[in-house]
Amino acid sequence: MLLSDSRIAEAPTRVAVLRAQGFRNLASLTFEPKPHFNVIHGDNGAGKSNLLEAIYYLGALKSFRGAKTEDLIGLDSDTALLDATITGGAAPHKLRIEVGRSERRRLQLDGKRPRSSSVWHQTVQMVLFHPGDLMLAAGAPDRRRAFLDRMLEQINPIYGSTLASYEKALRSRNRLLKEERTDRRSLRAYDAILSKAGAVVGQARARLVDDLAPRVIRAFSEVFAGDTPLGVRYVPRVEPTEEAIAHSLERSFEKDRARGFTVDGPHGDDLELQLHDVGARHHGSQGQHRTIVLALKTAELDLLSERTGRVPILLLDDVSSELDRSRNRRFFEMLSHAGGQVFLTTTHPEFILLENDRVDFHVEAGRITR
Ligand SMILES: Nc1ncnc2c1ncn2[C@@H]1O[C@H](COP(=O)(O)OP(=O)(O)OP(=O)(O)O)[C@@H](O)[C@H]1O
Ligand SMILES: [Mg+2]
Repeated sequence: MLLSDSRIAEAPTRVAVLRAQGFRNLASLTFEPKPHFNVIHGDNGAGKSNLLEAIYYLGALKSFRGAKTEDLIGLDSDTALLDATITGGAAPHKLRIEVGRSERRRLQLDGKRPRSSSVWHQTVQMVLFHPGDLMLAAGAPDRRRAFLDRMLEQINPIYGSTLASYEKALRSRNRLLKEERTDRRSLRAYDAILSKAGAVVGQARARLVDDLAPRVIRAFSEVFAGDTPLGVRYVPRVEPTEEAIAHSLERSFEKDRARGFTVDGPHGDDLELQLHDVGARHHGSQGQHRTIVLALKTAELDLLSERTGRVPILLLDDVSSELDRSRNRRFFEMLSHAGGQVFLTTTHPEFILLENDRVDFHVEAGRITR
């Protein structure tokens, strides 16, 4: 069964306590969430997403709304402080983040500056759903590539640097292609990097999708029920081998120069999602898009749990709207098998069809009460 915890060795990652000061509209708070479902409800603009953003920032060190650090600091404050105890794994960890308007961000992991950001990311793993994620089903392929890339970065410590070197070489190659007289020899230096790094990136994504796709399909059919078949497939623009990418770059030189950018390569790959053999992007209903994205996130949670040995924290911002009652119920039923810590925001707590292991918090003007 998807999300069954029999294969998971360690206790799930959990926020035991979170303290926040000067973060967005949140009042200074000490938040002690429960181990399972934490339902955060309140009116529009109350601060529910801000609380979720604070938790996400602790793990990802960035905002899921793409906000600049400056925007995270409360209007009446000069600094924002997040301080948390995270359990799961061998021992609890203390995380502390301080951001100011002018100084650099200060991070402390167990009282010391962390050696690298990957050490930090391995301490707190999270899976997030927020309304902007609907573009994973309804938007362009770059969203889906980013989804795969972020997952690979969490599993494989060197994937991020390989992808970064691919992207850097691509930017440099594109810059040369825009020049009046592109020097073909200097272009070839970048082709070598692109073929090597591109093969690693393309193969890693294809292998990930082999493992991910059956989980996505199972989650979709558990929640959506009915007989709508979902197809999930990695579609590379060029076969992800060093030779094939090198050959394609060589062959498309004239085409690339005419357009002023590199047309083919892993930067054009897609994670294809189909309903009844037609692209879900343009054919799916809103509820179907939402269910597909939730299935992708559920599959991500399942895969990360298995690969890291620990269930990540799940953050769901405004997850229930657009799903009908029975689909909502089936979705929460599936989540309850995972056994991890979940944070859900909603304006309508009665839409969260969970009876057990649930605690409700109310947010009003940045203040949280039970
Ligand atoms: N840096 C900041 N300082 C103070 N207040 C801020 C800051 N950034 C955003 N806000 C305020 O936070 C509120 C938005 O909070 P949030 O997005 O968490 O609402 P929400 O409870 O999720 O609402 P909805 O149900 O509409 O999604 C707004 O009133 C906004 O003005
Ligand atoms: Mg919100």
